[in-house]
Formats: sequence, structure tokens, C-alpha cells
Amino acid sequence: MSNFKTLDDLGDITGKVALVRVDLNLPMKDGSATDVTRVEAVKPTILELADKGAKILLLAHFGRPKGQRHSTMSTSFVQGDVEKVLGKEIMFIPEVMGPVVEQSIGILGNGDIGLLDNVRFWPGEESNDPEFAKGIAAHGDFYVNDAFSAAHRAHASTEGLAHHLPAHAGRAMEAELKALDAALGTPEPPVAAVVGGAKVSTKLDVLTNLVGKVQHLIIGGGMANTFLAAKGVDVGKSLCEHDLTATANTIMDEADHAGCTVHLPYDVVVAKEFAANPDSLRTCNVHEVAEDEMILDVGPLATEALGDVLKTCRTLVWNGPLGAFETEPFDTATAALAKTAAALTQDGSLTSVAGGGDTVAALAHAGVKDDFTFVSTAGGAFLEWMEGKALPGVAALMA
Ligand code: 3PG
Repeated sequence: MSNFKTLDDLGDITGKVALVRVDLNLPMKDGSATDVTRVEAVKPTILELADKGAKILLLAHFGRPKGQRHSTMSTSFVQGDVEKVLGKEIMFIPEVMGPVVEQSIGILGNGDIGLLDNVRFWPGEESNDPEFAKGIAAHGDFYVNDAFSAAHRAHASTEGLAHHLPAHAGRAMEAELKALDAALGTPEPPVAAVVGGAKVSTKLDVLTNLVGKVQHLIIGGGMANTFLAAKGVDVGKSLCEHDLTATANTIMDEADHAGCTVHLPYDVVVAKEFAANPDSLRTCNVHEVAEDEMILDVGPLATEALGDVLKTCRTLVWNGPLGAFETEPFDTATAALAKTAAALTQDGSLTSVAGGGDTVAALAHAGVKDDFTFVSTAGGAFLEWMEGKALPGVAALMA
């Protein structure tokens, strides 16, 4: 992994102004956040800077206001949630640059925290306008990026600022980059990847990148049906992208050439309707799916075999559930394999990194979220990283 500066590389920052990019794009209901994981993730960075006496200006986006002020998308809506998690009062500042920001900095004491308004209210943010970045940078002494989940955006606050101020990764960014490097950058082999989810079409680049990097590619979810169909299996009325069977075959050929074993379920859980515990539920061999049945989960034999595969591996990267995990009992395979991965991790034989919205929910549902080596809460950024793409916000820190 290339080198980047962290908070350890800051000298005396007493009274210095830190511009800290965080991701406060929180899911909201009735005016408050339903999940504050992202705030908890950046808490160590903020409190460390506060302890060291910096004046902290938090920079964040909230929703997609497209370069205009939008009354429902002010970061002031998350101020209360941030204060609760930090256990500190913070000052809301309704601008990102100019005299109001300058006056606010004058009011903030050392160790105090200000929250700037939604940086996406200004068009220069998403266009990554250097003049806009310079305007924000003028208020700070250094820049800290602690928003991995926004690092796939080449915006002024995620990328541009790094060119105008000394740039440091925050603690959450640092942990994320180290974990991701351990999973796919310089992993200890053999490496397994679990890729699930509904559609191959959304994860084509992920699959193509992984076949050249991992020794075992475990495909689950709806996308496994497309691969099974490509192999001539009749998947009944399962979710399946029949137009992508040629693509699936190409991916399997590439895997073959690269020495990557693709694992598809050989027994499956099927039902005639998608509902919780339906009467038509049964487990069968993949070659026995009736034309009015749909595959909704990986079967118990294949799940056990996949667990045995993980036992031979040293590294695991996981994105996407194996079955329709929100509906019982189609969470069974995901939960069982997640528990195996968690146990191997706890035994010290496996480094396990998982990410993506559904994946985090599935691991939490299985009760093993805290037993993986690292679980990333990033959505799009995690996927782009799995696609092997350089993330602009990360690349700027490496410069
Ligand atoms: C997210 O919620 O995944 C990040 O904050 C990025 O948001 P965006 O997709 O609107 O850029």
C-alpha cells in the first residue's frame, strides 16, 4: 500500500483549524437518524483532534441537493445526532466559507467543534472546482479525510482539498485502508470472495476483477442463478438475467484461466412463492428445480461445503448475501456461512473483511458483525474498491 499521512504525523495542533471531511449522510426517519454507525466511526478522529486542542470544522454532504440550498438537506438536521454520539455540543455554521465561517472560528475555543452546512449546496463541490476548494481551504491549517464511504467521489471536499492543505487520513479512513489492503491489496492466500446479491449486471466489474485476484469465488444470491443457467441448469422461475449467460460464461472461463475456482450452489432452497416460511418450501438438487419454483437460498449441503472452503483459506472478502436473507428462512445459508467465517476469524485463521449495505445488515442479523476482522459501512465506495478502481479521495491522500 502506498503511504499516506495519518493523525500521528500532525505536530502541535493547539489552536490550529482542522477541516475534517466526515460522512454524515445518515438514514433519517421523523427528523432523527435511524443508524448512527457513521458518526460512531468518526468519533475517535474528532475527539483525538479535540483533545489535542485543534478547532474542528466538520465538512459533510447530506443527500443530493445538486448545487443548491435545499431546506430539507441542511446538515443542521444531523447536528443533534452528532452531539449525542460525541457527547459534546457543537456549533452549526450555515456556510462553508466566507465571513460567517471566519467569525465562527473566532468564537470556537481550542478543542471545540463546528459543523459546516451541506457542502453539496454549492455547485463547486461536485464539479471539484479548484477555486471552491481554495475558498474552503483558506479557513483551515490542515485537512483530514475520514470519509471512506464518500471517497469514490472526486469532489472538492473529498479530493480537491487535499491539493490545497496538508492532507491526513483520519482514524476511520486509516483502519479502512489497512483492512482493505489486507483483504485484496496484499492478502495472505488462499483468498476467498463471497459475492451475492440480486443481479450480475450490478457486479460485473466486481466479478471480473476478483477472478484474477482470489483463489475461490463463491457466488450466491440471485446472481448465482444466472451462472447456473449459463451452465445449462433450468432455474425455473428464479430471478435470473438470461441475457447475461454469455457474460457469465466469459467470467467462468477467465476464472478457469486464472486458477480461481467458482463455487455455485449444488443444492438449493426453493419455493413457489416468495413469502416467509411458505407451504411450498423445499430443498432440492439444483437440477431438480421445477418450472414453477424459484431458488431463494443456498442449500445446507452446499453451505457446509462452502464452510469447508473457508477453512482452507486465510483471507475472505464478502459482499452481498447468499439468499433472500430479509425473509425467513432464506437467511439460513448467509447466517451459517457468516458464523463459520466469524468463528475462523476469532480462531485467528482467517482475516475477514465485509462491506456494503446489505452485507452489513446480513452480518448484523446473523449476530456476527463484531466478529469479522473489519466491516465497512461504505456502499458505493466499497463496491468500486472491489472493482479494483482507484478511489479519488484515497488517491489524493497518497499524493
Ligand atoms: C453514501 O451514502 O453512500 C455516501 O455518503 C455517498 O453518497 P452519494 O452516493 O450521494 O455520493
